[in-house]
Amino acid sequence: MRNPLSQKIIDIQPSGIRKFFDIVNEMDDAISLGVGEPDFDTPWRIREEGIFSLERGRTYYTSNAGLQELRNEICKYLERTIHVTYNPKTETLVTVGGSEAIDIGLRCMLDPGDEVLIPQPSYVSYLPCTVMADGVPVVVPLQDRNEFKLTVEDLEKYTTPKTKVLIMPFPNNPTGAIMTKEDLEPVAEFVKEHDLYVISDEIYSELSYKGKHVSIASLPGMRERTIVINGFSKGFAMTGWRLGYCCGPHCIIEQMTKLHQFAIMCAPTNSQYAAVEGLRNCEDEVEKMRKAYDQRRRFLMHEFKKIGLECFEPFGAFYVFPSIKEFGMTSEEFATKLLEEEKVAVVPGTAFGDCGEGFIRISYAYSLEDLKEAFGRVERFIQRLREEKNGGADATDGGESHA
Ligand SMILES: Cc1ncc(COP(=O)(O)O)c(C=O)c1O
Repeated sequence: MRNPLSQKIIDIQPSGIRKFFDIVNEMDDAISLGVGEPDFDTPWRIREEGIFSLERGRTYYTSNAGLQELRNEICKYLERTIHVTYNPKTETLVTVGGSEAIDIGLRCMLDPGDEVLIPQPSYVSYLPCTVMADGVPVVVPLQDRNEFKLTVEDLEKYTTPKTKVLIMPFPNNPTGAIMTKEDLEPVAEFVKEHDLYVISDEIYSELSYKGKHVSIASLPGMRERTIVINGFSKGFAMTGWRLGYCCGPHCIIEQMTKLHQFAIMCAPTNSQYAAVEGLRNCEDEVEKMRKAYDQRRRFLMHEFKKIGLECFEPFGAFYVFPSIKEFGMTSEEFATKLLEEEKVAVVPGTAFGDCGEGFIRISYAYSLEDLKEAFGRVERFIQRLREEKNGGADATDGGESHA
């Protein structure tokens, strides 16, 4: 029999995030600080609207691009949040999470051999989706000395005549880095100069803790070069509803809608009705969640400072990305040992690209009580590691050679 699989999919590595959580689920008394989804239930008004829409028998397909009512609300929302105006009929597509938009965006924009700049550490789907779209992923390693922001110097090193698309992953998962208007401006100039397109993944746009999120699409000359991807999973605590959207130039959205029509048909109808309520009436609920995340973020930064764990201050999403380089082990070794010895799960930085080595991702989408308990354990663990290290140094001083 022939091999039923394509070599392309065989060569793609599975995501490194899940591995630890499968272990955690089987461990009594383990605390996970690993999962990238809100710990809040979806705001009640949204859930109620979902229930109501089922009661009213709204159980049919919507139009391929999504309910017109929802697309109208999405465009109004983007106008008031990122100050970019889109046509709800021709420049807006409702998708199955931001995930689908990333996938079909790349598939509609790439020809074989086109290069895609993927700043890393970043979300795990950009690279495999590029490969499956016959593109060539080009990793742009972000530097901790730049607080994991993307700079023009980074771009200059990796841009070639074949580069077509730049992924902008901000606010960032896993680092929590954001890009301010001043940070984005030179990048936008570079993009225009090199005639690139941008896929801007703004799924964490509501979760910004230093001023409002700024979209690269809002900078001069960038709207026509950018697909803005967003959704309801993070800011509205709706991961399981599987709803996202993208807005951009008609010529790209039109082709994405065609692919979406063939592959998906339409995003879940029930979720679409519920999301209309979310955009119309739930900004205060979203703000309440944002404030709770911010409180947790500040708690963690304070704790890191107290125990002297190096971590730049992240201002977005719900992740912190401390350095564990002082312990002289890999991120994977650190995460495994922490799980085995203190039953706390974090994600090794390398799950988000090789340049995540030396860092771990801690999610603060957990209650303050859980974070306090977990951090007590992390502190104990780190103290032990430091003691062991100092003990080792003494032994070396005693004359043993490790050459
Ligand atoms: C940066 C980023 N983009 C996109 C997604 C996909 O989210 P969803 O498909 O639930 O909208 C995630 C999920 O974790 C993410 O972290």
